[in-house]
Amino acid sequence: MWGICTRTMVKVRTSNPCGFVKPCHLVKPVSTTRITGRYLSHQKGLPSLPVPPLKQTCERYLAALEPIVDVEELKHTKELVRDFQTAGGVGERLQRSLEKRAQHTENWLSEWWVQVAYLQYRMPVVVHSNPGLILPRMNFRDKHGQLRFAAKLIAAVLDFKTMTDNEALPVEYLGGRPLCMNQYYEVLSSCRVPGQKSDSVVNHAKSSRPPSYIAVVHNFEFFKLDVYNRDGSALTVDQLYAQLERICSSSVQRNTEPVGILTSQNRDSWARAYANLTRDQTNKESVQVIQRSVFLLCLDGAAPRGAAEMYRSIAAIQMLHGGGCQWNSGNRWFDKTLQFIVGEDGTCGANYEHAPAEGPPIVTLLDHVVEYMRKPDMAPSPTVPLSMPQKLQFKITPEIKKDIEEAKNKMDTLAQDLDMRVVIFDHFGKNIPKAHNMSPDAFIQMTLQLAFYRIHHFCCSTYESASLRMFRLGRTDTIRSASSASAAFVKAFDDPCKQNTEKVDLMLKAVNAHRSYTNMAVSGQAVDRHLLGLKMVAAEEKLSLPEVFTDSSYAKAMHYQLSTSQVPSKTDCVMCFGPVVSNGYGVCYNPMDDHINFAVSSFNTCGETDAGRLAQAIEKTLLDMKTLLEQSPRSKL
Ligand code: COA
Repeated sequence: MWGICTRTMVKVRTSNPCGFVKPCHLVKPVSTTRITGRYLSHQKGLPSLPVPPLKQTCERYLAALEPIVDVEELKHTKELVRDFQTAGGVGERLQRSLEKRAQHTENWLSEWWVQVAYLQYRMPVVVHSNPGLILPRMNFRDKHGQLRFAAKLIAAVLDFKTMTDNEALPVEYLGGRPLCMNQYYEVLSSCRVPGQKSDSVVNHAKSSRPPSYIAVVHNFEFFKLDVYNRDGSALTVDQLYAQLERICSSSVQRNTEPVGILTSQNRDSWARAYANLTRDQTNKESVQVIQRSVFLLCLDGAAPRGAAEMYRSIAAIQMLHGGGCQWNSGNRWFDKTLQFIVGEDGTCGANYEHAPAEGPPIVTLLDHVVEYMRKPDMAPSPTVPLSMPQKLQFKITPEIKKDIEEAKNKMDTLAQDLDMRVVIFDHFGKNIPKAHNMSPDAFIQMTLQLAFYRIHHFCCSTYESASLRMFRLGRTDTIRSASSASAAFVKAFDDPCKQNTEKVDLMLKAVNAHRSYTNMAVSGQAVDRHLLGLKMVAAEEKLSLPEVFTDSSYAKAMHYQLSTSQVPSKTDCVMCFGPVVSNGYGVCYNPMDDHINFAVSSFNTCGETDAGRLAQAIEKTLLDMKTLLEQSPRSKL
């Protein structure tokens, strides 16, 4: 997978790339079916995603290759690109078809994107696709505190749900322009369902009987918990607490098979196991309860402990994959769009399935939760007795048991392979680049370029997610952070023969080049999704794939050794995800005003990469860049 949020190895199948047909009872993953009120009129007012001019994309593609391929490769690719875009050539034909598609779809890209980036992606969603989100450690250390916190968290999410039900979410803006709000309506009451070759996403919020319960998992046992009274009012925090206590009392020990671990499997294996599991009617009904629930609450057992400075890194692992089978990986349903995770020791956060949404809507929801939690509990609890939460039953046949054992082994191997470091860089935040008139995001991206170069001594293909939400049903495009300007900057920075003034000039040029690419990407004029669209058209029209997509430069461009994403929030949290290639890093960051939270990942099986080393290099590089700026009078660009 390439970039989270693209973090998927997008392979366009040469035959029938969109052969997946959604059964009619499934809601489209990117839905247009909200039909009332403010939401619809807002959505209608948004512009459609443009198709960039072919020549522009070809030129920008070649420019993006410069820092990451060698001279001979680039020369060869230039010839291929020239042939591709020549008048009357295959590029023009594909471009015309794409423009036609743009005229008769709401968004020419989104549905393709969800298919190729997520639903057809066959690696496990855990680590490879689902991000984790770590909230600051909360002020409880025992079971009572855990349940009290979890009860309030449920109330907070239900409060947010009321806003989505009433279409009362405030519209968001980027650079003064309103954003598409569709993703907010896709994350509650929805779930991914495995299928052979391609999965689907079902959104039950839009069904005729939307769910009025959540699912809870404790000691690997799943429960259905009704969260509304008969009159439609939400249960109070006290009522929810009492219900959670009942759940915990009826699942005191881990003596159940961890059925949820099946969702951590490779998608084709899980699809096979899913068919086995749901052949039995009881199992099928239990699975459906989980899938239909508003969200899943994971009440975790003990998690590994470590030194205080490792707390956030260990918490990140708990959020991303649960720590392996002996810890909490079986206490999950990784297909569920939203899983809130509450540990026994104040650790809390979330894990989310990526197909329906990017990080920002999830983080906004989390911000709402954190804000809500600060309010005192006001509502008095009615004295009506509540029915016992329903324990979901699973009949485990020897075949299902075998599937569970296989999933456990694979999960443990993956858990051991992932190295994750969370760093709170507290020397400065957005304030310093802003004070130097630089885009903080571009400054951080250039830090990542330099930190990587300092370790590996070359520039790598780098992915940063850019939001396309200025457009109706927009998802993401790629900001290619490695540029000729960034390459010049990183090569000069530690060169003793260069003057500081020259280094500062190169830094500014690199930062400005990055900001220009960002502007281009968020306005729908970047390279990657356009190239993907052309590829998809070629496959749909059963044309052989043009050579620009099969040469070594293209393969290098798509091999993102640095997969990065900014996910900002009001709360002091950080999102985390795995690398998207075996010899790469995943880097997610949250720039706050006076500090920056980073989550850096790599795979232990790769001898070249080391998350801890990159995390340290990022901290040192941030300090070195600030020192350079402070020591050098700025020259004119
Ligand atoms: N001088 C001073 N201040 C500047 C500046 C400059 N030259 N350039 C930018 N700033 C300010 C901005 O005004 C903004 O101010 P604020 O903190 O008051 O809002 C702040 O710095 C941040 O701007 P910048 O760092 O440039 O980033 P951005 O907010 O424009 O974000 C992206 C850039 C690419 C992250 C954003 O456009 C985007 O696409 N985000 C979505 C990514 C996504 O979907 N991630 C999730 C994947 S799962």
